[in-house]
Amino acid sequence: MALNLDGIIGDSSALADVFKVLGKVAPTDSTVLVSGESGTGKELLVRALHHNSERRDGAFVPINCGAIPKELLESELFGHEKGAFTHAIRSRPGRFELADGGTIFLDEIGEMDLSLQVKILRALQEKEIERVGGITIKKVDVRVVAATNRDLESEVKAGRFREDLYYRLNVIPLHLPPLRERGNDILLLADHFLKEQSKAKARKRMRLSEQAAEIILTYSWPGNVRELENFMERLAILCDASSVMPEDLPEKIFLDIGEKPLKKMEEIQPARSVGFDWPTLKDMTDKELKLKDFLEAIEGRLLAEALERSDGIKNKAAELVGIKRTTLIEKLKKRGLL
Ligand SMILES: Nc1ncnc2c1ncn2[C@@H]1O[C@H](COP(=O)(O)OP(=O)(O)OP(=O)(O)O)[C@@H](O)[C@H]1O
Ligand SMILES: [Mg+2]
Repeated sequence: MALNLDGIIGDSSALADVFKVLGKVAPTDSTVLVSGESGTGKELLVRALHHNSERRDGAFVPINCGAIPKELLESELFGHEKGAFTHAIRSRPGRFELADGGTIFLDEIGEMDLSLQVKILRALQEKEIERVGGITIKKVDVRVVAATNRDLESEVKAGRFREDLYYRLNVIPLHLPPLRERGNDILLLADHFLKEQSKAKARKRMRLSEQAAEIILTYSWPGNVRELENFMERLAILCDASSVMPEDLPEKIFLDIGEKPLKKMEEIQPARSVGFDWPTLKDMTDKELKLKDFLEAIEGRLLAEALERSDGIKNKAAELVGIKRTTLIEKLKKRGLL
């Protein structure tokens, strides 16, 4: 069966190795442990695993074990019966039950408490669960896929992760390599995100200039694909021209690759007369923009500056530009920034 990798971009050999294992393991019911730095696409890969499995018509139920307070996590995973604790006014199924016939994705499993790890192990081995406060045991038919950006082997050594659970989860390890090891995928992804962002922001298709491409290939991308994605979005807001030049790239990148930041275009251009100059028609046509997009770009720059100056605090940013907080949120949403 051909793998359906809809939405996963990249043709590097590092990624091809991952797909090879994915193709073999997807149709089975084996437990899979996905590892990789933050932002490498672990969730995307796990979704692809589900969609390429026999369980594709069943539910895909993700749960972020690191984001739910530990007192609540057990009941989220296994459900609870009415009266099990103060706020348990009615019985509720947990994610394992909801995933019956499908796949449960235990994201950030490395954050899970040791006491709960025992219960996961039991669910894995016996394929049965017990709701909090329950007296009966329920059988569940669930495939378990887990992900972590921690090194679980050293977590085991440090006594923070149960060894038996680690081996039980790690039947098939899938490691997503960091973006910096995927060579030209960086450019494929950058181009993909720029295309999407140009569409979303209703502006002319943006592309990286050759020089800018060279620079982003050298950068180490510590935040991986997520960093690249956010970064392309920022360019789509802040960079007015359709061709992204090295001077449009943030200083952080130049510091990382050990080069001096290039001067911003505005700094190279002759100083404008003292005071404020309204944009001229030429400013607009130079940027190859229509009136609406030009005004949108100006608004985008002002909003981004206000947010930066107020450290992302929306109340403050709204005040700076003189609009209501709700209007600001609406505008940010429209720009895909929320
Ligand atoms: N190969 C890829 N092709 C297209 N988009 C990708 C790819 N890899 C990651 N992304 C996108 O990058 C973002 C981060 O991916 P994802 O959430 O899957 O990463 P993660 O490894 O789960 O991160 P974290 O450890 O922080 O949870 C998502 O928006 C995802 O769609
Ligand atoms: Mg994730």
